[in-house]
Amino acid sequence: MENGEITLICSSGIADISTTLFSLLKSGDHAIFSKDIYGETIELISMLRNFGIDITTADFTDIETLKTLFKANTKLVYTEIMANPLTQVVDIEKISSLAHQHNCLTVVDSTFTTPFVIKPINFGADIVIHSLTKFFGGHSDVTGGSITSSKEIINKIRHSYLLLGAVLDANSSWLIHRSIKTLGLRMKAQLNNAYTLAKALKNISAVKEVYYPGLEEHPQHKLAEKILSNGYGTMISFRVEDNRDKVDQFIHSLKTVKYLGTLGGIRTTIAHPVSAFRGEFTNEELYKMGLTEGLIRISTGAEDINDLIADFTQALEVFV
Ligand SMILES: Cc1ncc(COP(=O)(O)O)c(C=O)c1O
Repeated sequence: MENGEITLICSSGIADISTTLFSLLKSGDHAIFSKDIYGETIELISMLRNFGIDITTADFTDIETLKTLFKANTKLVYTEIMANPLTQVVDIEKISSLAHQHNCLTVVDSTFTTPFVIKPINFGADIVIHSLTKFFGGHSDVTGGSITSSKEIINKIRHSYLLLGAVLDANSSWLIHRSIKTLGLRMKAQLNNAYTLAKALKNISAVKEVYYPGLEEHPQHKLAEKILSNGYGTMISFRVEDNRDKVDQFIHSLKTVKYLGTLGGIRTTIAHPVSAFRGEFTNEELYKMGLTEGLIRISTGAEDINDLIADFTQALEVFV
C-alpha cells in the first residue's frame, strides 16, 4: 500500500515510532524533528536527548530555515504530513530531497493521511510509519502500528523491533487485517464528510475560524491540492470563543459526535487540544502555539453528513 519493500507490524503507533528512532539513532547523532507532531513523539524527543542524541525542532513549513539546520552529524529528519491540530501541510518532496542532499533519512508519520491520501515514499521519504489504531483499525477497538521501508533499512530496525517487544499480538493483527479491507470505503466516506463539514462550519456564526487544507484560505491549500489524493484528510479544527465553560457545555450538548482522545474511526470524535497537550507544554506555550481554550479538533467519521452538520449546529448554539 505504501510502495515500500517490507512492513513491520507493531503493537502501537508509539511503539513503531520509538522502535524506528532507537534503531536508527545513536549517541552523538543529530536529528531534525518537525515541531508540529504527535505529543508523545515530542516527549520521546526528551528521552532521546537523555541518550546523548542532539535534536533540533523546527517549523517544517519554513523550508528556507530548515535548510540551515543540517549539521555534519545529522542522520535523520522526522515529520508528519499534516500537523495536529492546526492541519499545516508540509512539502514532503522538498524535505526528502533536502534530507538526501545531506545523506539523511526522512521518516514520515503518515497516520493522519493514510496511503489513500498520500504515499510519502513516492515523494522521496525513506520510512513511513502509521498508528494502525486510527484509520487502519477504523473502529477504535484495537491498537497497532507499522513501519514500511526498503529491505536494507528494515534490516537495521528488525532486531530492535524484537528486543523492544514491539510485535503486535495475533488477535489485534486479525482485527486490523479485517479492517484494512474497508479502509478505502471508509476513507472515501470520511474524506467527503470532512470536506462538506468544514464548509458548513464556516457558515455557523459561533465559529471564528476553520483549519482544513481543503479550504482555499488554508495557507497550504495549493500544496495540499498538489500532493494529496482523494481529499484533504479527515481532520478539521475550528475556533470558537475562548470560554472554557461554554466549550464544556458545547461538548456535552453534542449527541452524535463523541468527545474522545482517539481519531480516525468511523465515528466522528472531537478533542480539546489545549487539554490534551497540557502534559507536554505550559499554558503560555500552548496559547502561543494557537492552542487556546476555544480550539476544537474534529476527526470526521462516516455518519450521514446531515446528522453531523445538524449535531454541530445545535451544540454550537451555546455560544450564541
Ligand atoms: C500522528 C500520530 N502518530 C502516532 C500516534 C500513536 O499511536 P498509538 O495510539 O497507536 O500509539 C498517534 C496517536 O494519537 C498520532 O496521532
